[in-house]
Amino acid sequence: MDLRSCLATMVEEGMITKIDDLVDWNLEAGAIMRYGNEHRGPAQWFTNIKDSMKGSSLLGGLFATFERLAVILGLPPDSTYHELVDFYERGFIKRMKPKIVPSGICQQNVMLGDDVDLLKLPVPQLHPQDGGRYIGTLNIGVCKDLDSDWVNWGTYRGMIHDRRSTGIWLGPLNHGGMILARYREHSKVMEYAQFYGSDPLSNIVAASGVPYGVPEVEVVGGIRNQPVELVKCKTVDLYVPADAEIVLEGTIDPAETKDEGPFGEYPGYVVAGVVKRPIFRLSAITYRNNPILPSTCLGVPLDDGLVWGLSVAANVKTLLSERGIPFKQVCVPAEAAWHAVIVSTKTPYAGIAQMIASLVWTDRNGSYFPYVIVVNDDIDPANLQDVFHAVCTKCNPVTGVHIYPGYTNSPLAPYLAKTPFKELGAGGGNILFDCTWPVTWNEKEVPDRLAFDNTYPEEIKRNVLANAQRWGLARSRS
Ligand SMILES: Cc1cc2nc3c(=O)[nH]c(=O)nc-3n(C[C@H](O)[C@H](O)[C@H](O)COP(=O)(O)O)c2cc1C
Repeated sequence: MDLRSCLATMVEEGMITKIDDLVDWNLEAGAIMRYGNEHRGPAQWFTNIKDSMKGSSLLGGLFATFERLAVILGLPPDSTYHELVDFYERGFIKRMKPKIVPSGICQQNVMLGDDVDLLKLPVPQLHPQDGGRYIGTLNIGVCKDLDSDWVNWGTYRGMIHDRRSTGIWLGPLNHGGMILARYREHSKVMEYAQFYGSDPLSNIVAASGVPYGVPEVEVVGGIRNQPVELVKCKTVDLYVPADAEIVLEGTIDPAETKDEGPFGEYPGYVVAGVVKRPIFRLSAITYRNNPILPSTCLGVPLDDGLVWGLSVAANVKTLLSERGIPFKQVCVPAEAAWHAVIVSTKTPYAGIAQMIASLVWTDRNGSYFPYVIVVNDDIDPANLQDVFHAVCTKCNPVTGVHIYPGYTNSPLAPYLAKTPFKELGAGGGNILFDCTWPVTWNEKEVPDRLAFDNTYPEEIKRNVLANAQRWGLARSRS
């Protein structure tokens, strides 16, 4: 699946709205994306962005609903949250090496050297507070390890400095940042490519906690059960998907930095102000005819941040299974802006909630999620109404709340004070809400939960369900 075949399916299913009116790159496109995503509307495909080259278009909100994520994964659009997570978890462990091909449509058009001009692309100024026009939101950065053949993919934001350079934030806790640090230690310039489009599954995988040393391209191939076709870049010794929409090629000299930010980020705030960050200097831009630039206007949930949470839920499930922890379901609720993981479990032994929380925080991306909520398995972690009820009624305010100071948080956690170590996520900690009944209570001591599902005899429930519509009872609970 490339981006265009995915879009064709979504257009057919009414999951995308095409906006042919002239739209300004300066805030207007961002405002439309934000409104659309906050109202859970269709993805927004802008075909006429002011000042951009003819035929180019901007795409917002591709990943902003679970329905659209299901289409990207190749599942029925009405798949449940847990079906998406299960599918991703099963596919994530498979690997398939990419296939090198001699040419690719991503190189139908080439800008080289002085002809390189990022400003011809439909790059939006997404929020008024942003330090500039952000081309790098739903991008995939490609870099090669200095000491091995490992090629890493990751999503790292990028702000346009001028026609031929962008700021780039390869977070120090991420593999991209670790690889760049090795180049810094050896005073070497790192080749870097950034692609947009191609199979949208690549975005999900690039934002996932793929183990150290594993190339994300092999994970994409494994999930699709088909090798990703890669073509060599024009000016650097790196390979990108042949069907990408747009490819930026160039280098990052770790010794060189420039002010980057602020940028409206995934927690829903403008955090991490102006910071000196590395510069991505471009030697080429290649693109398909009529290139499509995927973008996301991050902010208050829901938005394309969904792309991140799905993989964390899948990875946490794998970790819990590997350690033999009896859990039922895991949810990373989008509403918490990637700050919470909820796990349901039977409570056959004391301390299980602490064990679950510890495992969540050992996952690389799970370590960014400071809140862990553990509930009994009569609660679906994806049903936030029931989870909130459990937090307020089952979690003992003294013995059920466990605070773990000193844990590293995301450098973008809005509550962190602006200390010199904020960039490393220091100054916060983690918290566990244990909403399970104490294991020392016997069956008679555990209060009966008064929900329709577990309270009434089957025969009565069947009769209510059979007549619910006729009696006008069946309104949504939320
Ligand atoms: C839309 C979006 C934007 C992101 N921006 C950044 C960023 O600017 N810097 C960063 O280090 N991580 C960013 N991330 C998170 C990383 O992509 C994610 O942690 C990933 O696992 C990193 O891959 P790596 O460990 O292979 O480097 C972003 C994720 C998403 C979904």
